[in-house]
Amino acid sequence: MTDDIIDIRHLTKVFHTDNGDVEALHDVTLNFPRGGFTSIIGPSGCGKSTLLRIIGGLDTDYDGEALMDGQPIPGPGRDKGFVFQDHRLLPWLSVRENIRFALPPEHKKDDELIQSNIDLVGLTGFEDALPKQLSGGMSQRVAIARALANRPKILLLDEPFGALDAITKIKLQDQLLRIWQSEHITMVIVTHDIDEAVYLGQTVVVMKPHPGEIKRVEHIDLGWPRQRIGEAFNTAKDSIYQEFFATN
Ligand SMILES: Nc1ncnc2c1ncn2[C@@H]1O[C@H](COP(=O)(O)OP(=O)(O)O)[C@@H](O)[C@H]1O
Ligand SMILES: [Mg+2]
Repeated sequence: MTDDIIDIRHLTKVFHTDNGDVEALHDVTLNFPRGGFTSIIGPSGCGKSTLLRIIGGLDTDYDGEALMDGQPIPGPGRDKGFVFQDHRLLPWLSVRENIRFALPPEHKKDDELIQSNIDLVGLTGFEDALPKQLSGGMSQRVAIARALANRPKILLLDEPFGALDAITKIKLQDQLLRIWQSEHITMVIVTHDIDEAVYLGQTVVVMKPHPGEIKRVEHIDLGWPRQRIGEAFNTAKDSIYQEFFATN
């Protein structure tokens, strides 16, 4: 039996707006294995962010069930880390203080914990830098360190590398994989980049266009470390590519 950390059952989400109801997710049933790396891919507006927000407890108004460790997700908490496309760092605080700011009161003075997370994302030496002194990639690494410092059970990443250049993106993907392998945290990444979905995910969830439904859940049968080129990777990518653009 697989051990799932997240269990989503018949999840439907409707936004009630002044212009009428918008169904963002329709009858989604999905599991995320504990310690796994899952990619969610789908066209813009298909409900990826909505799904991630519900898993993260940022949205608790829906029909169906969203369970973590078998219990309904009551709201946001330190067991769930979030990384968004924009780093959301406080501009007046240094790298070190941005991470400290996110820690619970009992850990605020734990300089070792802060340093270990700065080291984990490869930013040793930049502790005192302000966000404006960092590149986009470095800022995203701080955002990852900040999320990890709370030792979440699950890290939820919503297009975290979407605004980065191709080379920086590749470096951060590799760093994220190293962190996943060393820290054993369940990772879920939302992306609209097929390469990224296949390179990172043990499983790729392909969503249909709006309203969001699951089109297919594909296991990526490639080991680690993965090669970004070559036949095996291209075959896996082709199959996701075909799913992504298939009309049914
Ligand atoms: N707060 C909101 N109010 C109304 N509609 C929303 C809200 N958030 C998202 N939606 C709608 O729900 C659908 C899914 O949005 P989203 O989850 O952001 O998609 P994605 O992340 O895949 O681009 C879209 O049609 C979007 O317009
Ligand atoms: Mg989104």
